[in-house]
Amino acid sequence: MSLINARILGTGSYLPEGLLTNADLEQRIETTDAWIVERTGIRERHVAAEGQFTSDLAVEAAKAALLSANMDANDIKLIVLATTTPDRVFPSVACLVQGKLGITNGCPAMDVQAVCSGFIYALSTANAFIRSGQVKTALVIGAETLTRITDYNDRGNCMLWGDGAGAVVLGASEEEGIISTHLHADGRHEEMLYVEGGGTRGIGEPAYMRMQGNGVFKMAVNTLDAIVDETLAANELQKSDLDWLVPHQANKRIIDATARKLDMSMDRVILTVGEHGNTSAASVPLALDTGVKDGRIKRGELILMEAFGGGFTWGSALVRF
Ligand code: UT7
Repeated sequence: MSLINARILGTGSYLPEGLLTNADLEQRIETTDAWIVERTGIRERHVAAEGQFTSDLAVEAAKAALLSANMDANDIKLIVLATTTPDRVFPSVACLVQGKLGITNGCPAMDVQAVCSGFIYALSTANAFIRSGQVKTALVIGAETLTRITDYNDRGNCMLWGDGAGAVVLGASEEEGIISTHLHADGRHEEMLYVEGGGTRGIGEPAYMRMQGNGVFKMAVNTLDAIVDETLAANELQKSDLDWLVPHQANKRIIDATARKLDMSMDRVILTVGEHGNTSAASVPLALDTGVKDGRIKRGELILMEAFGGGFTWGSALVRF
């Protein structure tokens, strides 16, 4: 086994200025602030400005992560970016970000598409590159402009989604970093969560997310239960060994269920869903950066990140920060 670990050297995030509050939604659809808060925990979400795209949010998060790692953009030797709302079909958002950051060292750049699990998939991919000795540094980003594919006539799910980006800089290290990652997918449930229109099946049609919310909810809770067990067992850890849960922020009730499963009190869980909504691939790195920047998550602590999303895909990462 390799002695090289991938350690998180810096974190960063970016939220666009625009806000969509529950009060705003009350004006657009038949709903109430009380219903949204009770069923989801969400109070507001950020919305990208006109002309602001996923790559723009990603670049801001990346710059913040580079600053916190005290590194120049050209020190980065790999970019892996998770998104389900790319600026264009191609080039990849990772390549757009490389260009906008002024990275001219020719490093590989690629997008990973695993919807809400995208950041965990991207982190796992970059980890494999570092552990195998192929690169010494990597920029891993989760970035989304989900409000662009939200149908605000669909009151059953439009209150969930928000825009934002989060990033980490990874570096090869002999110290512990990413300890293990666990990735899964089950491609039999397309009809439960998908984008109608867009893609080659719907060129020219409006691209809107469709979700059977209740079914996805149950699947998410059960699946996350299982991956938490899998991660602890693979590392011969007890629930009490964990310092922090940094979960995908889909719905507060899903996060509550995972925290209960781990016997973790909510003050050991980074919760951003109330202010960010569900930002899909951006939600885990946004939550991580929130916990790091406000001083809760400290060096040396043990973090469990997990996510579940369209595909279906799900995954976890156990990280010594
Ligand atoms: O991130 C990727 C994975 N995604 C998720 O994990 C999301 C999973 N799903 C969810 O978070 C929840 O299913 C939702 C928040 C989307 C919906 O909550 P729910 O508790 O599953 O509600 P429901 O769809 O079962 O609807 C319950 C009731 C219905 O009324 P009846 O039929 O019981 O009279 C809905 O019509 O709530 C009604 N309802 C609303 N009421 C007020 C649905 N949407 C709204 C709304 N405002 N916006």
